[in-house]
Amino acid sequence: MTAAIRFLMCAPDHYDVDYVINPWMEGNVHKSSRDRAVEQWQKLFHVLKEHAVVELVTPHKGVPDMVFTANAGLVLGDTVVLSRFYHKERQGEEPFFNEWFLQQGYTVHELPKDLPFEGAGDALLDREGRWLWAGYGFRSELDSHPLIAKWLDIEVLSLRLMDDRFYHLDTCFCPLSGGYLLYYPPAFDSYSNRLIEMRVPEAKRIAITEADAVNFACNAVNIEHIVVMNKASQELKQRLTGLGFQVIETPLTEFLKAGGAAKCLTLRVTEPIRTEVHATATVESRIIRLEGHLLDAGIINRALDLVVEGGGSFQVLNFHLGEQRQSTSVADVKVTAPSHEVMESIMSQLIDLGALPPPQEVCDAHTEPVVLAGVSPDDFYVTTIYPTEVRVNDEWVQVQGQRMDAAIVVSSTTTGVATRCKLLRDLQVGDRVVVGVEGIRTVRKVESREQRNSQEFGFMGAGVSSERRVELVVEQIAWEMRQIRDQGGKVVVTAGPVVIHTGGGEHLSHLIREGYVQALLGGNAIAVHDMEQAMLGTSLGVDMKRGVSVRGGHRHHLKVINTVRRYGSIAKAVEAGVVNQGVFYECVKHQIPFSLAGSIRDDGPLPDTQMDLIKAQQDYANLIQGADLILMLSSMLHSIGVGNMTPAGVKMVCVDINPAVVTKLSDRGSVESVGVVTDVGLFLSLLVQQLGKLTSPYQLAQIA
Ligand code: ARG
Repeated sequence: MTAAIRFLMCAPDHYDVDYVINPWMEGNVHKSSRDRAVEQWQKLFHVLKEHAVVELVTPHKGVPDMVFTANAGLVLGDTVVLSRFYHKERQGEEPFFNEWFLQQGYTVHELPKDLPFEGAGDALLDREGRWLWAGYGFRSELDSHPLIAKWLDIEVLSLRLMDDRFYHLDTCFCPLSGGYLLYYPPAFDSYSNRLIEMRVPEAKRIAITEADAVNFACNAVNIEHIVVMNKASQELKQRLTGLGFQVIETPLTEFLKAGGAAKCLTLRVTEPIRTEVHATATVESRIIRLEGHLLDAGIINRALDLVVEGGGSFQVLNFHLGEQRQSTSVADVKVTAPSHEVMESIMSQLIDLGALPPPQEVCDAHTEPVVLAGVSPDDFYVTTIYPTEVRVNDEWVQVQGQRMDAAIVVSSTTTGVATRCKLLRDLQVGDRVVVGVEGIRTVRKVESREQRNSQEFGFMGAGVSSERRVELVVEQIAWEMRQIRDQGGKVVVTAGPVVIHTGGGEHLSHLIREGYVQALLGGNAIAVHDMEQAMLGTSLGVDMKRGVSVRGGHRHHLKVINTVRRYGSIAKAVEAGVVNQGVFYECVKHQIPFSLAGSIRDDGPLPDTQMDLIKAQQDYANLIQGADLILMLSSMLHSIGVGNMTPAGVKMVCVDINPAVVTKLSDRGSVESVGVVTDVGLFLSLLVQQLGKLTSPYQLAQIA
């Protein structure tokens, strides 16, 4: 029985480390000893000969890695898929292996050019013959898997390799007889680990440590109950022995210098076919089109990175470069993913980047009905801040109420079809929700190079400024606010209590008075502190002029809350003359709408504070409508809330002393947001000064 098992090896006559194509070879060029390599190879050869037949292929000069016959191709029955090496350094081996297979009478399949696949190094049969595990990520292309499935008529399970030390599947993965699996889980992405866990029951999974992995313990030759490898820890040996395996260690350190060991040095050429298994590959491909300033706006890089990071692979089918400065480029990219699930997740991110299906493949979006109020069908498309269109009855329909983190509901109206963003909680039974990724596109504004680079709009280029740049940025913001005011536009301010503590209250009041603010959003605290300052001159009990605590001052804010509660609202307290200056005074006097969203730690609260958070979110959303610019002043909580409901195209300025907050808020992937890391009081005073310069020198003197 055992005698029927055959392996192919190649003597190390010309073996050396001549080049570097994997991390193991680094620093090892010409550092291996030919004599020791021959000795180690011989030992392996003899060990294997005791348990199987070993065939030899003639070694050739100039292809030192030919010793690694695992990479000759992949054999199943009398069919071979010949390797197509990724690196040109090894491509010279292909004809020699091809010749050997043909001489032996195998049917040889050759993959198309430019579709790398490195044979049994990246494809390992389940030892029961139930399916084929195939690796991708470094040497073999995911697109080769469906062809392999077809030619070998077997189910292919694609595994993505993540760690370049384990660049071939056989360096970190070794199916053993009896359905066992020896492997190093961290070498794979989480999707692949899940797939492995679904196919191999826990009791059969032998996960090894990094120490064993770097000794190539997974690069083992398994012949029934025998496992031949370079080296294994005591613990691993015990574990394998306990499961009925016999571990044979045979040192292969000279080959480790090239990134290979026992398994790499062999190719099993007798792999019996199980007649009941047939081809299936869950690998899916799709073509997408990208248009715009693909190179200079970095879109193509982002798209391709996203595909790879998402677990897929890509092939750029054609790229038409816009040659003029103003002309845009077009690229068609074939995206391949190991499964439908992974494909959908990659596609939805590509849609967010502005990817389109190529014209001939455009089809209507799929919808599914809501069956439980407030709960969407599972596969719903999650919206972004970008203007989105949905294909219904062969037409692109613009989605209304664009915001992120919503579902899209399609409905028919008297005038046609309407599509709208709806929050999960607002979904009603029967609403038709867009699912999957078909028939959805986002419209990304194509800014010209001039727009991106010009000084005037420079501040809109997403980025976080620190002290040095604050003044410059303030100048630009002031200019922008002045424009908006003069054109009757809308600036919304979200502000936290720090605005008051840092002495920014008077400046914000000034902005409101001067017509620079059209709505104010905050929480209970900013209003309480603002009115405490107006009524008692303190903020949380600290004297704002002298900067010292006032005796008994900690009670001030509750006194203020109590007073406003007596009057029934902030507006009434202002009318009664109890509050006669400050941010909220100005709001009431100038009829600037404000919304205060409550939170768990609110004292009081003020009668104006909305403690029903769903209502508060609605109030915020209403006030944000039509905003041209949103100034977010030191309030992470409220600012994030605001960011979530604001569509792209609205400029956002986020000011906070904490860079982490600024980064979080200005990182919307949208070009219109800018972050300013500075003290908010200082920022507001600079802003008012700057606006003063733009208006009249007299007013400036008044503020100063
Ligand atoms: N130096 C060779 C390469 O990088 C080593 C191949 C190891 N073979 C394997 N099946 N893991 O291609």
